[in-house]
Amino acid sequence: MPLIPEEKIAETRERTNIVQVISEYVSLRKSGVNHKGLCPFHAEKSPSFNVNEAKQIYHCFGCGKSGDVIRFVMEHDGKPFLDVVRELAKRAGVDLPEPERSPAAERARQRSESDRARMLQLHQLVCDFFRAELASARGERGRAYLEKRGIGSSVREAFLLGYAPPGWDALVRFLEVKKIPAELCERAGLVRARENIPRQPEAPPSKNSHFDLFRDRVIFPLVNPQGEVIAFGGRTLDADERTPKYINSPETLLYKKGENLYGLHAAKGAIRKSGRAILVEGNFDVLMMHEKGLSETVAPMGTALTPSQVHLLHRYTPTKVYLYLDGDNAGYAAAARDVGTFLDEELLSYVALLPQGEDPDTFVAQHGREGVELLLSRARESVEYFCRYAWNRSGGSVPERVKLLEEEAAPLIRKVKNETARRRYAEQLALVLDLPLDTVGKVLRGGRAAASVSTIAKAVEPATAAAKLLPHELELVALCADHPQLLTRLRPLGVLAVVRHPELRRALLELAERTDSVKFNANGLAEALDPALRPSLIEAALSGRYLGVSDPERALSAIVRKVQGSEVLEQLKKALSEARAAGDPEEIQRLNSRINELNQQRLGLKSGN
Ligand code: CTP
Ligand code: MN
Repeated sequence: MPLIPEEKIAETRERTNIVQVISEYVSLRKSGVNHKGLCPFHAEKSPSFNVNEAKQIYHCFGCGKSGDVIRFVMEHDGKPFLDVVRELAKRAGVDLPEPERSPAAERARQRSESDRARMLQLHQLVCDFFRAELASARGERGRAYLEKRGIGSSVREAFLLGYAPPGWDALVRFLEVKKIPAELCERAGLVRARENIPRQPEAPPSKNSHFDLFRDRVIFPLVNPQGEVIAFGGRTLDADERTPKYINSPETLLYKKGENLYGLHAAKGAIRKSGRAILVEGNFDVLMMHEKGLSETVAPMGTALTPSQVHLLHRYTPTKVYLYLDGDNAGYAAAARDVGTFLDEELLSYVALLPQGEDPDTFVAQHGREGVELLLSRARESVEYFCRYAWNRSGGSVPERVKLLEEEAAPLIRKVKNETARRRYAEQLALVLDLPLDTVGKVLRGGRAAASVSTIAKAVEPATAAAKLLPHELELVALCADHPQLLTRLRPLGVLAVVRHPELRRALLELAERTDSVKFNANGLAEALDPALRPSLIEAALSGRYLGVSDPERALSAIVRKVQGSEVLEQLKKALSEARAAGDPEEIQRLNSRINELNQQRLGLKSGN
């Protein structure tokens, strides 16, 4: 039984202009009755992909793929038919009716609705129980723990925090008194039947048929945006390493893993008001951020960020999301992994990096709201972050960078539907990967660059390896020599991308890798380079001109920004003269205004970056 009537699907197709939709994915040129472009489904150099507006179909003479606009989006985005129809219908302003239900389906719906209501009541009751426990004499351990972690009473209230007492049956007995059927409690995952666990020395006492899931834990109720308690998480107070630190409710008819965000009920007002959401990793990160007045903060609660969580967040987030993750490799990797999810959702996202070894909880506790705002103001747009992250992970040679462009960066950026945004990303990518803008453009349109690697290499690598070190490279050496702890920041801050000299880059990369020690060995560094470069390098390392700097990381970022500023400018100027030659007035205007903007920033007329 189709969920959308056939005539509505037809109406959607009719009201959608196939050329317009496909133009968002492929750059098309009018050619006779058709529009032509490079096929997005196979690699090609000359366009054999045709779109016919009158017939509302596409066809590729190269690979043979063809269809209507619905098929195109399905194939390109890998989405199911109904999702695509719903999306296109929404764009075209076609109203899709709610599907009608048969009487049997209606009865089933009512049954599940009353089941849901019973389940919600149970969760509310249990939430109240845990809260009362936290307030009671038995709750002293829980209160002391929250005290120690710096969580005050208003956040405790707003998040309905509770405490599950030790022992095996506090909740079991409470629910018995309340005459709640054991079957319901078991389905909620709050208690378990005894026979379901093997006999162990520390097994629960045998006088009860059931035992509690949460014991001696701080309880974090998961509250949905409608204000209903739908699950619980618990953090142990037991220092024993064998006890799992966090446990969560199992999936129930109220709660599906990866579909909720911890703290959204308390954050949604602040998110709407400020226009931004802040995403952190852990429950205590959320609590501490709220504690310090950053009430736009939420966390995924025990899963890697999922598309449905991002979708949920988008419903409440007017403008942008900051990913504010732990300053460790897992955090950096998580940020890179999540970029595509935000692009798919067309939600603007930024990555704010924490210093190595910190998490949002400890950072905001120590530096307060201002400290966090400062980090957020230095956040990078996540596509740029991704490119740098990926670059830092690749070896950095031209073939490696081209491979990175083709295999990782381009597929990601092709997801960006907005043409202007896509061009901006292309510029950033060209800059970060240090590849010509036209190469990047070509790959983004579905072409390949691998064949012309040697030509590209000639264009971008310095003429000889023994070329002089550039002034900013010597500044970096001087700065790191005075503040060796910066070596571990070279990768996350994308510093290596502005080091042009291949051998210096390789040598710094090696130092940056060694997170164990933060020794700066100027002699070792010099030995990795051509002897002719030795004097200038040693001189820089010995100068001591950064010793008095109070915020070395800031000095590092300043060097990077300055180099990038002038490089973007060069690329833009080159693109401008190309646009002039091609007589493309729109592009000329766009480039001119970008150049002005950058010049102004460089002159310090604009605050910020
Ligand atoms: N988490 C979970 N289940 C686990 C482990 C973690 O649900 N088995 C979730 C929790 O929401 C937790 C987050 O993942 O807050 C991050 O876990 P982790 O980094 O291990 O802990 P922290 O948040 O740093 O915990 P704490 O500060 O309490 O030590
Ligand atoms: Mn923590």
